[in-house]
Amino acid sequence: MRPFDDIDRLANTPALDKVAAPLRDAVHKVLRRQDVKDALHGVWLGHPLHPVLAQLSIGSFASAGLLDAVPRTRRPAATLIAVGLVSAVPTAAAGWADYADGHEEQQRVGVVHAAANGVMLAGYVASLAARARGRSLRGALWGWAALAVGTAGATLGGHMAYHQAMGANHAEGYPHIGPGDWTDVGTVAELPEGEPTRRIVGDVGVLVVRHGDVVKALADRCAHASAPLHEGHLTGTDGSECVVCPWHGSVFRLDDGSVVHGPATAPQPTFRTRVRDGRLELAVTGYEAVPAS
Ligand code: FES
Repeated sequence: MRPFDDIDRLANTPALDKVAAPLRDAVHKVLRRQDVKDALHGVWLGHPLHPVLAQLSIGSFASAGLLDAVPRTRRPAATLIAVGLVSAVPTAAAGWADYADGHEEQQRVGVVHAAANGVMLAGYVASLAARARGRSLRGALWGWAALAVGTAGATLGGHMAYHQAMGANHAEGYPHIGPGDWTDVGTVAELPEGEPTRRIVGDVGVLVVRHGDVVKALADRCAHASAPLHEGHLTGTDGSECVVCPWHGSVFRLDDGSVVHGPATAPQPTFRTRVRDGRLELAVTGYEAVPAS
C-alpha cells in the first residue's frame, strides 16, 4: 500500500461527515457577505488566496524550527513563531471559505487538515509561553513538535489541492482537448433564445447562449469544481450578461468568461463563434481563451 492511500481512506470515511457537515454549515452562516467571501477565495487575485497566505505561516514556522536548532538564535525563532501565529488567522479564514464550497470528500480530508493545524497552533502558543517563562529549550521542543504536526496537516492540504483538485482550475484543459478547427454544432434557429444550452464540440461540452444571431460560448464545466454551467441561470451584472453556476454560485461574464463572484478564481474559457448559412460553428482551440464574437 502506498502512504497516500491512507489519505484516500479519509476521503471515503462518511463518519467524518458528523463533524465536517456542521462545520460547513457554520461557515456558511458566518460568511454571508459575498464581498468577504470573494476576498477570502481570492477572486481579486485571480488565484486561491489560502495557499498564498499559507506560504507565510508555513515559512515562518519552518524557519523558526531551523533557528531553534542553531545556538543563540532562539529569540528570532520566537519572533518567527509569532509571525506565523498572526498570519495563521487570515490563512485559516481563507481556508474555511474554500472548505465550505468543497465536495464532501474534500471536506472530510479538510476537517482532519484543520484539526492538525489547530493542534499545531496550540503547540506554538505553548512554545511561546514556555519561552516567555525563560524555558527556551522547552519552547524549542514545543516548536518542533508543533512543526511535525503542522507538516502532517500541510501534507493533507497538498493532497486536497493536488489529488482532490480543490482550488485547481477545472476548465484549464478545454483549449488543449477541443478540436483544432471550426466545428458545426447545428442550426442557430434550434438554439432557444436567451437560455443556457449545451452543445458538444468534439469531446467537450460548451455552454452556448443565443440572442438573435449573436451567440456566446464558454466552457461548460465550471472552473471551480466542474459543475455543468448550462444547468445554471443567467443574470445581469454591471451591464454584462452572466451565468450563475448551479453548484456553488460562481458568476462568470458571458463576454469574456471573467469571474464576477467566486468561489471560482480562474476565468471560464470563452470560444469563438460564427454563423454560416444559418448554422452555428464553434472554435475550441488554442491555449489562451479567446473572446467570444
Ligand atoms: S462548481 Fe463550484 S461554483 Fe461552479
